[in-house]
Amino acid sequence: MSAGLSVSRPAVVVVGASRGLGRSIARVAAREGGPVVLVARSRDGLADVAAELRAAGAEPFTVALDLLSGDAAQRLQEELDRSGLYCDVLVNSAGIGLRGAATLLPVKDQIGIIDVNIRALSELTLHFLKGMVARKRGGVLNLGSIASFTPGPGMAMYYASKGFVRSFSEGLYTEMRPFGVTVTCACPGPVATEFLVLSGAGKSMLFKALPRLDPDYVAERAWRGFRARRRIVIPGLSAKLAALASSVVPSALMLPLIARLQRRSSDLCPCGSGKRYGNCCGK
Ligand SMILES: NC(=O)c1ccc[n+]([C@@H]2O[C@H](COP(=O)([O-])OP(=O)(O)OC[C@H]3O[C@@H](n4cnc5c(N)ncnc54)[C@H](OP(=O)(O)O)[C@@H]3O)[C@@H](O)[C@H]2O)c1
Repeated sequence: MSAGLSVSRPAVVVVGASRGLGRSIARVAAREGGPVVLVARSRDGLADVAAELRAAGAEPFTVALDLLSGDAAQRLQEELDRSGLYCDVLVNSAGIGLRGAATLLPVKDQIGIIDVNIRALSELTLHFLKGMVARKRGGVLNLGSIASFTPGPGMAMYYASKGFVRSFSEGLYTEMRPFGVTVTCACPGPVATEFLVLSGAGKSMLFKALPRLDPDYVAERAWRGFRARRRIVIPGLSAKLAALASSVVPSALMLPLIARLQRRSSDLCPCGSGKRYGNCCGK
């Protein structure tokens, strides 16, 4: 499997481009004029984004791919080779989350968070970094979260997965910098996308308390930060303050507060009794 043909053209590959932040980042990246490869499962979603980019004069390509298929990097590479492109910039925006008690959420779904947010992101990053370093150009823009700055009781697997994304990205940033390759981690707070509905996070007090940013605004900040070769981008004042609070407030205070704000009054007790949290052993 080649990591990019010398005669091929550089492309921005946006994984998770069928909607949300990925779609917004694809829009911003397309303004630079080069080919943009849109990756996600939904063919309709990809076709819709591609039509929008084409109408704006850009050159989109679509690759319908399930990151859980096990051979995502290889299949994506084959599609790039077929189109005479190489991955100059990789944007890892595909991500999933789940709010709820770890003992009540299905184990399979929680492990699925690791598969998409950690395994697939790592596999794609490692696959395409080799070519970037050989060419001494390009880079990776990973979508972390303010959740990457603290453990998150009530959404533990998601926060842990984002902690991995930030740590992995920051390590690679320093490792790749001497070779002219940038790895940036964008760490937004709540953004008004379907993620908040699908993950259930939008129903928690925590996400209701923080302002929801516009995905286009977050995409602009993330892309500008990436092009400025920044290690971390935290779009918006509220997210910056939340990240700061995570680093200065002791965990003994911070974690129970997050647990409280992430819980809903209708949540069931993690003990499995089927009773509501407040009417059972939960405090
Ligand atoms: N929204 C927020 O509040 C927020 C805040 C901080 C960080 N983030 C992070 O930002 C990133 C983007 O989030 P978003 O808000 O844009 O979420 P979103 O609107 O739910 O979009 C998620 C994208 O990931 C793709 N995807 C999910 N599972 C996939 C799979 N198995 N294979 C291929 N593609 C898959 C989806 O496409 P298909 O369904 O078509 O496959 C979609 O394009 C995520 O990493 C998220 O954790 C979001």
